[in-house]
Amino acid sequence: PRLDLGLSTTELIGRVPLFAGLAPDRLGRIERLLRPSLAMPGEVLVRRGERGDSMYFISSGAVAVTLPGLAQPVRLGSGDFFGELALLDDRPRNADVVALAYCRLLVLDRRDFHRLLDEDADLRGHVEEIAAARRLPSAG
Ligand code: CMP
Repeated sequence: PRLDLGLSTTELIGRVPLFAGLAPDRLGRIERLLRPSLAMPGEVLVRRGERGDSMYFISSGAVAVTLPGLAQPVRLGSGDFFGELALLDDRPRNADVVALAYCRLLVLDRRDFHRLLDEDADLRGHVEEIAAARRLPSAG
């Protein structure tokens, strides 16, 4: 059953700056591919070592990213995304990601992720830039 999240996908997308500058046709396309989802505080969204089949945009709420190499968890919030590395690199998840609060998320599946990046060089550039920083051992 579909969860009633109180906000439409369009409204949720409006809270993600990555999508802010996109042309309406691009937005419409993305809107059809993103699946709204709600996470509860404490919910494990991504587990290190597991295969990843989707990535997540945070529309509201906050998550903690825990990596063995990092002294402290990295906190991500509204407008941030996570789970892109497993899809870009075709590798297992490199961190645990746990919801710190009720989160409104937009989920993008692996195949749609690759399609979107293939169609939109700007979007790819943005995602790649952030992913590159996160791949650095000292990132955080
Ligand atoms: P993925 O490896 O698919 O799953 C864990 C996610 O945590 C990873 O993708 C990134 O989205 C995120 N992540 C990993 N390292 C960092 C970091 N240093 N800062 C923020 N997010 C990170």
